[in-house]
Amino acid sequence: MRRLRGSAGIRNLMRECRVGADDLVMPLFIKPGLTEPEPIASMPGISRYSPEQALAECRTLFAWGIRAVALFPSSITAGKDAQGTGALDDQGLIPNTVRRLKAEVPELLIIGDVALDPYTDHGHDGVLNAEGTGVDNDATVAILERMAVLLAEAGCDWVAPSDMMDGRVGAIRRTLDQAGFDSTVILAYAAKFNSGYYGPFREAVGSDRPSGEGYLDKSGYQLSPANAREALRDALLDEAEGADILMVKPAGPYLDILARLRSATATPLAAYQVSGEYSQIQAASRCGWLEYERIRDESVLAIKRAGADLILTYFAKEIAQGLQEKTAIG
Ligand code: PBG
Repeated sequence: MRRLRGSAGIRNLMRECRVGADDLVMPLFIKPGLTEPEPIASMPGISRYSPEQALAECRTLFAWGIRAVALFPSSITAGKDAQGTGALDDQGLIPNTVRRLKAEVPELLIIGDVALDPYTDHGHDGVLNAEGTGVDNDATVAILERMAVLLAEAGCDWVAPSDMMDGRVGAIRRTLDQAGFDSTVILAYAAKFNSGYYGPFREAVGSDRPSGEGYLDKSGYQLSPANAREALRDALLDEAEGADILMVKPAGPYLDILARLRSATATPLAAYQVSGEYSQIQAASRCGWLEYERIRDESVLAIKRAGADLILTYFAKEIAQGLQEKTAIG
């Protein structure tokens, strides 16, 4: 084997995968009324941006080769209710930001998150059933369909249901088509696990339980970390319902799911390297225990190698910046 590893030239010829800026999607947290970007304590290097600041950020990202951003509303405190009514406000923070970004950086793809958690006072991704024992799947889907159309109307190129309700991809596809948005792409959070790695994100968007009673339990709709076969079934249902791209989330701890899904379907795959994956790499490097850039790049390359065509990662901006002098990492 060493014959093929003997020099940088040979190693480059033998390289099986690369990651470029155009493989990466940068998630952005939007918050109204900020005079300065607001750093997120548990995610060093990541801040919340006002719509105005997000615009400047998007210009930079695009100039560095990033072709898509995923927007999340952050710390909406006013107007949260049990129904997540704010999600259907045409003049809400996200629709207004999307209109702005599409007008000024039209070539940058905007991915709108379809789920109710930033808008519900209980923090769940859907509305609760009458007994209060869990989410009401079908009532939630009916709201998500309208939310998807509203995001498409505002200018989102892709909508990304991250809620894990059953049947929502098919319902969203039909409703988008009926509303004339037949070219809006559905990026389905197809295999989304009930993971502890979302902790810093929930702080970032303010969807952790308002009373602060620990980590909100989404095990009634998100996948069990123990279940791979169930994850494949769930993802392939989204595919059958018309998802254009299937996403696995988190990414690093679930590379087996990504690889198995890669062999099960020819549909494009995305992976979301989530907040906790980002934060643990940041934390260990801050302690001096891991070499930051090396681990960062290795973590993203591994996700690509396992089968992801595109990767949502909080490292996207920084990697793209570093790639101004190189063509790809790996
Ligand atoms: C919820 C949502 C979550 C993330 C994206 N959309 C968290 C959750 O399910 O509680 C997590 C992303 C991250 O951790 O970076 N709709």
